[in-house]
Amino acid sequence: GFSWKLNDHPKLPKGKIIAVVVLDGWGEANPNQYNCIHVAETPAMDSLKKGAPEKWRLVKAHGKAVGLPTDDDMGNSEVGHNALGAGRIFAQGAKLVDLALASGKIYEGEGFKYIKESFETGTLHLIGLLSDGGVHSRLDQLQLLLKGASEHGAKRIRVHVLTDGRDVLDGTSIGFVETLENDLAKLREKGVDAQIASGGGRMQVTMDRYENDWDVVKRGWDAQVLGEAPHKFKSAVEAVKKLREAPNANDQYLPPFVIVDDNGKPVGPIVDGDAVVTFNFRADRMVMLAKALEYEDFDKFDRVRFPKIRYSGMLQYDGELKLPSHYLVSPPEIDRTSGEYLVHNGVRTFACSETVKFGHVTFFWNGNRSGYFKQEMEEYVEIPSDFGITFNVEPKMKALEIAEKARDAILSRKFDQVRVNLPNSDMVGHTGDIEATIVACKAADDAVKMILDTIEQVGGIYVVTADHGNAEDMVKRNKKGEPLLDKNGNIQILTSHTLQPVPVAIGGPGLAPGVRFREDVPDGGLANVAATVMNLHGFEAPADYESTLIEVVDN
Ligand code: 3PG
Ligand code: CO
Repeated sequence: GFSWKLNDHPKLPKGKIIAVVVLDGWGEANPNQYNCIHVAETPAMDSLKKGAPEKWRLVKAHGKAVGLPTDDDMGNSEVGHNALGAGRIFAQGAKLVDLALASGKIYEGEGFKYIKESFETGTLHLIGLLSDGGVHSRLDQLQLLLKGASEHGAKRIRVHVLTDGRDVLDGTSIGFVETLENDLAKLREKGVDAQIASGGGRMQVTMDRYENDWDVVKRGWDAQVLGEAPHKFKSAVEAVKKLREAPNANDQYLPPFVIVDDNGKPVGPIVDGDAVVTFNFRADRMVMLAKALEYEDFDKFDRVRFPKIRYSGMLQYDGELKLPSHYLVSPPEIDRTSGEYLVHNGVRTFACSETVKFGHVTFFWNGNRSGYFKQEMEEYVEIPSDFGITFNVEPKMKALEIAEKARDAILSRKFDQVRVNLPNSDMVGHTGDIEATIVACKAADDAVKMILDTIEQVGGIYVVTADHGNAEDMVKRNKKGEPLLDKNGNIQILTSHTLQPVPVAIGGPGLAPGVRFREDVPDGGLANVAATVMNLHGFEAPADYESTLIEVVDN
């Protein structure tokens, strides 16, 4: 039968302290002025790259290598950390939803049957991120779902849109809203009462994560459920256009708005008897809303009204909490993660990041499960993120504090693996502020230095990598790779992630002599890192894990 026991590695010893450092949004790209990692002073990461060539390499962090539908899909933290932690490539939410929509199976599942019971008398509400970023959701999936739901009996549909500008260029939300409006108009021609009912920017409305700021979810609740918002418009296109006229307005941060009819009445609050679908497939930024929609007992903010609805997630977002209990598509079953194996084999684990990335090194790392596997073997520390700001204002974020926690955990000798995520290059990169992103990259590098110095002190091993690219390329490029200009001649800032590969570096005084990167895994990706780390802990990886990146040569 199944056993958690891992075989001993034939050559590598146990008992070394290993620091696993994930730089969020740190890819490898040509050195130029839009490569903030190149422009920033990053001596620690530079020294790894310039060190022994057999201890530094690149791995794939996007597309099929991390379970996304195509190689045109940029990497992201969810799939990146899933791959790093699970050591295998799982078809991810984006892909699973594509398949379920294409086959029509989505309409035969338990989740759809459940919400369908409301179609006769209630409204179907669809809430989610409106873009083609493919990180949290995709417009084409929403379009298919709208069509399918109406064909399967939905007579009244309200869409609550969250504008993006983070996984796609800022300013594109107008086009996405126009496209959606066209689709809804076509549905209306077919006799379906379909409209956009509310909206707002994803970073202001609904899509908070890891309980950083419940006010974000409350603003969404007020607009979506109660039909209340500071801004009221007759149409969503008008709303987005008008709200973007404010100085420094940005798709990510648009304030909440509701659409009202000629009498000033909101066109689509959520009421008893309605059905709701959150159409994002990615979990982290939907979990909080899912709790608000689903939990009878809830004290995070005053919901004022808690309508009796039938709610389904596009996916189940948290496998441990079984949240939400109804969903349209089954999530990837990311089982037997490296974290779970290692605690069963005596590896004591410490994991830390600041709030906005905390779940990345815990929840995502562990296959979208919240909580510990074996509490007595693990400690997860969350450092509170700066609150209510965009991170270009504080680009150093909590990198130093994270590094100090890692240092203390290493020096305590209570842990065999000390794992951190350094958020700077990603979170500041997403703001599109190039100057601040340069400061962010340096701050992350300073943190790496502190952790590497500590590993040196205790005779340990380090594995430094990243989950996907971001800060290494801050400009939108044409097919030839040249920066794209807008109609005013300004460069188009790339706030999103990239398709670039990411580094993996190993080293430290505890690294056994003769350990080096193999040359026969040229296409290695993030999923190959888990077996590598298991080896460095002195274990063979399970047979079905993606192969290790290292070999041990006798010398
Ligand atoms: C976000 O949620 O902030 C972005 O859409 C993706 O960023 P992440 O994958 O690095 O978290
Ligand atoms: Co990111």
